[in-house]
Amino acid sequence: MARTILSEKMDERTPLIATVHVAPPRRRYQHNILRRFCTIALGSSLIALVVLFLLPVALLPGHRHHTPHPVGPPHHQNALTFNELQTILLETPKEEKAQEWSKYYTAGPHLAGKNYSQVTWTQERWQEFGIKADIVAYDVYINYPLGHRLALYEKKKGKSADDADTWKVKFEASLEEDVLEEDETTQLENRVPTFHGYSASGNVTAPYVYVNYGTYQDFEDLIKANISLEGKIAVAKYGGIFRGLKVKRAQDLGMVGTVIFTDPGDDGDETEENGVELYPEGPARNPSSVQRGSTQFLSVAPGDPTTPGYPSKPGVPRQPVDGAIPSIPSIPISYVDAIPILTALNGIGPSPKSFNKYWQRNLGLKYKGVEYNVGPSPDNLVLNLVNEQEYVTTPLWDVIGVINGTLADEVIVIGNHRDAWIAGGAGDPNSGSAALNEVIRSFGVALSKGWKPLRTIVFASWDGEEYGLIGSTEWVEEYLPWLTHANVAYVNVDVATVGPHFKASASPLLNKVLYEVVELVQSPNQTIAGQTVGDLWDKEISTMGSGSDFTAFQDFAGIPSIDFGFGPAAEAPGDTGGAVYHYHSNYDSFYWMNTYGDPGFHYHATVAKLWALFTARLAEAPVIPLNATDYAIALDGYISGVESKVDALIAGITSETDVDEARFRPTTPAPKGSVHDLKLSFKKLHKAARRLRKAAEAHDAWAAELAEEAGEDLPWWKWLSKLKLIFNIRKVNNKYKFLERKFLHQEGLDGRPWFKHVVFAPGLWTGYAGAVFPGLVEAIDAKDYGNAAKWVGIIEGRLWDAVGSLK
Ligand SMILES: *[C@@H]1O[C@H](CO)[C@@H](O)[C@H](O)[C@H]1NC(C)=O
Ligand SMILES: *[C@@H]1O[C@H](CO)[C@@H](O)[C@H](O)[C@H]1NC(C)=O
Ligand SMILES: *[C@@H]1O[C@H](CO)[C@@H](O)[C@H](O)[C@H]1NC(C)=O
Ligand SMILES: *[C@@H]1O[C@H](CO)[C@@H](O)[C@H](O)[C@H]1NC(C)=O
Ligand SMILES: *[C@@H]1O[C@H](CO)[C@@H](O)[C@H](O)[C@H]1NC(C)=O
Ligand SMILES: *[C@@H]1O[C@H](CO)[C@@H](O)[C@H](O)[C@H]1NC(C)=O
Ligand SMILES: [Zn+2]
Repeated sequence: MARTILSEKMDERTPLIATVHVAPPRRRYQHNILRRFCTIALGSSLIALVVLFLLPVALLPGHRHHTPHPVGPPHHQNALTFNELQTILLETPKEEKAQEWSKYYTAGPHLAGKNYSQVTWTQERWQEFGIKADIVAYDVYINYPLGHRLALYEKKKGKSADDADTWKVKFEASLEEDVLEEDETTQLENRVPTFHGYSASGNVTAPYVYVNYGTYQDFEDLIKANISLEGKIAVAKYGGIFRGLKVKRAQDLGMVGTVIFTDPGDDGDETEENGVELYPEGPARNPSSVQRGSTQFLSVAPGDPTTPGYPSKPGVPRQPVDGAIPSIPSIPISYVDAIPILTALNGIGPSPKSFNKYWQRNLGLKYKGVEYNVGPSPDNLVLNLVNEQEYVTTPLWDVIGVINGTLADEVIVIGNHRDAWIAGGAGDPNSGSAALNEVIRSFGVALSKGWKPLRTIVFASWDGEEYGLIGSTEWVEEYLPWLTHANVAYVNVDVATVGPHFKASASPLLNKVLYEVVELVQSPNQTIAGQTVGDLWDKEISTMGSGSDFTAFQDFAGIPSIDFGFGPAAEAPGDTGGAVYHYHSNYDSFYWMNTYGDPGFHYHATVAKLWALFTARLAEAPVIPLNATDYAIALDGYISGVESKVDALIAGITSETDVDEARFRPTTPAPKGSVHDLKLSFKKLHKAARRLRKAAEAHDAWAAELAEEAGEDLPWWKWLSKLKLIFNIRKVNNKYKFLERKFLHQEGLDGRPWFKHVVFAPGLWTGYAGAVFPGLVEAIDAKDYGNAAKWVGIIEGRLWDAVGSLK
């Protein structure tokens, strides 16, 4: 079904750039002369004509403005040199402006599909900056909160035979975040209630069980301890895995509801227990803060769950949502609300000590008297969980801006989502939105000086990211043919800053550009004068998982993508030079950002500079600055990584990391197939990877040569050499452009066909974290070695295809 719809509904149109003229405005006689010349001299087509005669003019340095700059990108018949452009992009972004944009976006609620005035405001700003922008709407299936309740009931025995037992409310959860005098955002009348995206409506009353982080093995531990789960409500901590997967496992085990709370034990050292002052007086977590968020089963497929694989245009057929979103109600709560519920279980059922070490970590409410016994609560102690959600199919809006480049079939897309779970969202996502506006304003300044990019640049302000990457997924699904044909790279920034630590994840094709750009931008931290972002960064680039809008580009369309921003340290959020970030809470507010997150908005401006320069390098260099060797090296590393996993299995050795990871997924059944045969098949993978490395090195070397030639000034009478160079550059660029596509396997991963990339996908059992060779690794984890061998074959095929494409 999805397949037919796919071909029917997909659109070959190019957004905003319907027809693309590489030629200058039509002047009939010139056209005729060229055409005659073409017929006579070359007997070739009009396309060849355009390529042969107009691209040289477009691509290569003109005589008027040449600056000797061997490998750097020369201007292509342009009013600005690359250095001039770079100066504009480094000097235009301003702290005060970023602060102004942040203040605007965080002034009122902007849940997906709920704030059209932010859409038109964004479009108007971009147009003021000189960038043409359109609004693209999709009709998507989402929920909005209507009501909720969480209460603890206790049955009191009647005093005599005729005095009936009575249920008394022992505790009524507020389900509200405190209104703070200092923080205006928290005072808004129309602030967004605490709820979960895609949660099921329901009204359940049942005994409850504390399930630790609610990972697969946490539940298994409970089952082993004979804790009855069926018909009960799960009380889980946030952390470890994506929240939707906690709800999914509870649902699969016959539980009737899920309550998820934030434990301050996961905030590192920055806690009240350690004497740190609470927000707003200090940087520790405000006890009433609640983490909203989506419970969609994201690792199976993002986007509108009723239109998997095709765009949610009005009138399209809708699929049932079973299996894509939960069927039991869930609700997020603060630790203030969790304390009485957990304390009521003290002494009931096993304590964490009777379980493994995974139950004894980060018990941040012990100092408040919580013993973390699992329960279940006796039948006279029950929770009433009410979750009322309104499900609607409603429009949401992406804002799409375009700067036409000289080349229309080479396109750079950059984007950030605009929607937030709360009225604020100063960190997630509007630090990114503020930076994006500064990027666009900077490109606008360049345009006003007569600059025109070599490649087309598309800017996106996505809607509906929070519910399930909806705005970006639907857009990629709609424009898939065009993106497949033309998109060189996608550059995402979600959270631009909530701390001082630079972080990035990327397709290895893009590593080189990132390493270059971080050295060009000054860090806001000038403890050592002149230090750059690169000087303070550990240079770690993680693999692409999911969790933001790059997912459809990277994992579905095979477009090399990158995601970056400044955050707190990964290990202990509050640990190093940062306040605890109130993720998806009312306290992710303008006041928090201005006071703790990024006082002075220096990191906002820094991200704008990095983002603009990164985009400019991709858009302007005559030879696309991707590096295939880096990809080949990374792939070989991933292969070795998986192989050592297999070696360890054969040797019966289990590492600490393996054990930790295994907590997230089902216990493996008896092995199927031979692990030794699987081990042998890695030879084929290594061979293919070695060949890919050779091909990649040759390709990159050729590209480097061409880049150098492109920087030289050829006199006009060497037009033939010029043409040859252009031809070769186009050839090299095409190979770069399509390399990532070679890693797509059209049937998709086992059980989740939407995910087509054989190298990168979100972990099936974590939801966020990036997995490499997901098909293969999941088969090995499941000890299904026959299936793993199948995946070795698929990956090998993709590698050889990539080798062939570089020849
Ligand atoms: C881009 O170019 C096409 C074709 O020349 C034109 O129709 C479109 O309006 C242009 N878009 C922008 C944003 O300039
Ligand atoms: C939309 O956003 C603006 C700016 O943040 C805010 O002032 C306004 O209250 C919001 N509108 C609605 C309907 O929530
Ligand atoms: C939930 O169900 C109970 C028992 O059926 C009922 O008394 C109560 O009014 C319901 N609550 C809501 C909010 O509908
Ligand atoms: C769970 O129940 C089974 C069967 O009733 C029993 O053999 C086992 O010892 C129990 N386990 C625990 C941890 O109580
Ligand atoms: C600021 O820079 C100094 C010197 O490089 C470094 O030691 C320190 O950790 C940095 N601080 C932050 C918060 O990045
Ligand atoms: C590509 O990357 C490899 C390995 O990092 C490096 O040796 C080579 O110089 C790079 N080539 C180009 C053209 O950047
Ligand atoms: Zn976000």
